[in-house]
Amino acid sequence: MSQARIEQAVSAWGQSLGKTLTHCDGSCAKPKVEGMLTRMVGLTLETEGCQAPIGARCDVVTPGGQTVETEVVGFAGEKLYLMPTSDIRGLVPNSRVIPTNHSSAVKVGPELLGRVIDGRGRPLDGKGPIQTSHVVPLEGREINPLSRTPIREALDVGVRAINALTSIGRGQRMGLFAGSGVGKSVLLGMMTKYTEADIVVVGLIGERGREVREFVQEILGAQGLKKSVVVAAPADASPLMRIHGAMQATSIAEYYRDQGKNVLLLMDSLTRFAQAQREISLAIGEPPATKGYPPSVFARLPQLVERAGNGEQQGGSITAFYTVLVEGDDHNDPIADSARAILDGHIVLSRQLAESGQYPAIDIEASISRLAPQIMSAENMQRVQFFRRYYSLYQQNRDLINVGAYQPGSDPEVDLSIRLQPLLMEFLSQDMNQAVSLEQSYGLLQHLMDSQIQAQDGPVANAIAEQDQMPVDGSRG
Ligand SMILES: Nc1ncnc2c1ncn2[C@@H]1O[C@H](COP(=O)(O)OP(=O)(O)OP(=O)(O)O)[C@@H](O)[C@H]1O
Ligand SMILES: [Mg+2]
Repeated sequence: MSQARIEQAVSAWGQSLGKTLTHCDGSCAKPKVEGMLTRMVGLTLETEGCQAPIGARCDVVTPGGQTVETEVVGFAGEKLYLMPTSDIRGLVPNSRVIPTNHSSAVKVGPELLGRVIDGRGRPLDGKGPIQTSHVVPLEGREINPLSRTPIREALDVGVRAINALTSIGRGQRMGLFAGSGVGKSVLLGMMTKYTEADIVVVGLIGERGREVREFVQEILGAQGLKKSVVVAAPADASPLMRIHGAMQATSIAEYYRDQGKNVLLLMDSLTRFAQAQREISLAIGEPPATKGYPPSVFARLPQLVERAGNGEQQGGSITAFYTVLVEGDDHNDPIADSARAILDGHIVLSRQLAESGQYPAIDIEASISRLAPQIMSAENMQRVQFFRRYYSLYQQNRDLINVGAYQPGSDPEVDLSIRLQPLLMEFLSQDMNQAVSLEQSYGLLQHLMDSQIQAQDGPVANAIAEQDQMPVDGSRG
């Protein structure tokens, strides 16, 4: 057939299709346009022949009838780039690609409490299907920053050092900066069990699969799980699933916040979320910038973090902790840098303290809560400053003191710091099975500091010991 005749036939077909659609009067379904899988590089699927917006879901159907769910993550000319959200085994060239016109949504409801789900919302705990009642968008909804309730009240997280020295406000977003194996998971577990928040949502993103079980069974336990929802997208989940896991945990927290609850959102870890975004961005051709991270990663972090915080008036709150891995204990890693800038404070865990057996290994000199002055009384702020000053003074002179080069009596301030040091260290340490409330934390800080100003250390040591000997199962769940 000649080229002219082909064109004529195509044009006639187009005209008759146009007429048919006019008769449909907008009431009949639009024809479904399917595409074809043309190429696959790494985890990126290239498809041609169909159109779908970014974030839309597409089903890739193999000739054998197997369906792989994917999401549109980019495009170039006529090509769409898709990323799978499920197993891609069995895909073949020229598989059908069917846009579904759905974007990812999260099923939420009170039924989620006490459950462990994966990045797609499917139960992982073998407790049967979850019959949820509501659906919310994975991306969340925007809140006008001016209509958010200001942060005024402290949230009890059940950990003495944090409660008293880096007080966290309801709706505050904190970073937990640490290298590997210095006690992040244990600290998050303590907060989950002992916080006074109504609901705890835990996102385990990109960590080892073994840790999910450990966290749920050993660190959280039945008591902690009762008021928690755990979303787990471990390291072997696809990068898109890890991103979805973090977003899903945030969507669940938003749902409870909108019900007026005080939610504690714990995300372990923000670094793995950033790394998943890096994998996706590099795969679709975005050039790397800082230390291999493409610029979109740094845009994605605040999008996630800004969703936490207080809701509109009379709403609840999401107080969030994001763990940030500092590789090789390098606190200037680009993700750590960026996280520090967008969060409302940071708690730093020190390897040196952990190695010396001091747990939780909070480096109080390097930790700060930007909102502490707004939620603490002036007297307590003064006590915190007193604590930090003498703690720091001892650290600055530690080497001299340890080698015996410091002559007692040469500086009364240093003398006081030496006398205070064991008490301060004891104040900072807490058994992982022990809960210390906000009131107890402030009370002990007051007792410690006020009596020390009057140089009476005997009763203080007793008071710390007394608080530490309180019933081990202090959980308020
Ligand atoms: N409060 C604590 N009391 C006693 N031991 C602790 C405490 N916190 C942590 N540890 C010890 O430190 C180990 C590592 O803690 P954890 O698993 O919480 O570290 P992590 O920072 O989450 O590690 P990773 O980077 O591997 O995830 C624990 O197995 C435990 O032995
Ligand atoms: Mg851990």
